[in-house]
Amino acid sequence: MVKAAVLYEAKQPLAIEDLELDDPKSGEVLVKIGAAGICRSDRHFMHGDAVINLPAVLGHEGAGTVESVGPGVTSVRPGDQVILSFVPACGRCKSCIQGHANICDNHMATGPMMYDGTCRLHKGDQRIYHMGKVACFAEYSVVPEAGCVPVSSPIPMDIAAMIGCCVPTGVGAVVYSAKVEPGSTVAVVGCGGVGLNVIMGAKLVNASKIIAVDIRESQLEFAMKFGATHTVNASDRDPVAQVKELTDGRGADYTFEVFGSTDTIKAAYEMCAKSGTVTVVGIAPVGAEAPINAVELVRFEKTLRGTYYGSARSQIDMPTMVDLYLSGKLNLDDLVVRHYTLDQINQAYDDMDQGEVGRGAIMFS
Ligand code: APR
Ligand code: ZN
Repeated sequence: MVKAAVLYEAKQPLAIEDLELDDPKSGEVLVKIGAAGICRSDRHFMHGDAVINLPAVLGHEGAGTVESVGPGVTSVRPGDQVILSFVPACGRCKSCIQGHANICDNHMATGPMMYDGTCRLHKGDQRIYHMGKVACFAEYSVVPEAGCVPVSSPIPMDIAAMIGCCVPTGVGAVVYSAKVEPGSTVAVVGCGGVGLNVIMGAKLVNASKIIAVDIRESQLEFAMKFGATHTVNASDRDPVAQVKELTDGRGADYTFEVFGSTDTIKAAYEMCAKSGTVTVVGIAPVGAEAPINAVELVRFEKTLRGTYYGSARSQIDMPTMVDLYLSGKLNLDDLVVRHYTLDQINQAYDDMDQGEVGRGAIMFS
């Protein structure tokens, strides 16, 4: 039996329960979870803004220690520290072969189930789904081998968990998706856990101005720790006008939307300069359509693109993020400011909704 937080129905609190977890099958790994991050992507399912098969164990930003391996597993061994990837790439589909392991076709087709279409979690006869094949809001999880990224020199579990989602998503959006050039101006709309990593990515590639945009003053102050050079409070005055004032009337060369709403996508689009690039990171509610000025898209040669998991290829890019952390180039030590037990998980999500700064993490003993 493993203790886990289960979502039975949207808009209901997560239930803390004991579930049965089957042994890892061929190509699968049993991981003892060390830490799991509190990310808004789980919250979208809890609010009903995104859809997942239910009941499900959420949690997609995790790290832990390999407990045992199923037949045929060769890349990890019991005792290894691993970061979990919520897109365990199959390596054989068209997207993987094209170099887009972050949008693996076979993973997306099987979603919250193992690659064979079954679940390892259940409660009696009831199957319980695994978010992103990770399901790390639980003491233990069975994950595909491809979803385990070994860490060569051990790092704190909460930091490792961050490298499972918000770090590659945010830093990757800058480095791998938008490919921000040194000296450019950058605006980041939404400075929560993921947005702060976009800011760190922009600092890493030597952007000249890094403009943090948020509706909360506390988030803006906190963003200065991670490399923001200017702040814009979107609840005071039109953020588009404020970003233009800070960029000689042009707008920023690269803008990032990191909340997940049509309004913030529109704002990020409008505050982007001529020939600039708008990168949408946040996941808007299902069915949302963002209105953008179609003429400006053409006359101003704007590029509008989405990015999933920072266009990162977990198996090679997560170890890079670990190295960047170890060499002091990513300030992940200041990112995780709240630690909770699994029993406190609903409180952890309420704190996120209340706009507490930085990232929270569930710690397992
Ligand atoms: N303008 C600017 N910022 C806003 C606005 C707005 N209108 N509304 C909310 N925000 C800010 C919040 O104050 C908060 O600081 O957006 C930030 C969102 O941060 P978190 O709640 O910590 O969410 P995070 O985990 O960073 O995820 C952001 O990225 O991966 C996706 O699914 C994820 O859509 C989510 C997004
Ligand atoms: Zn996430």
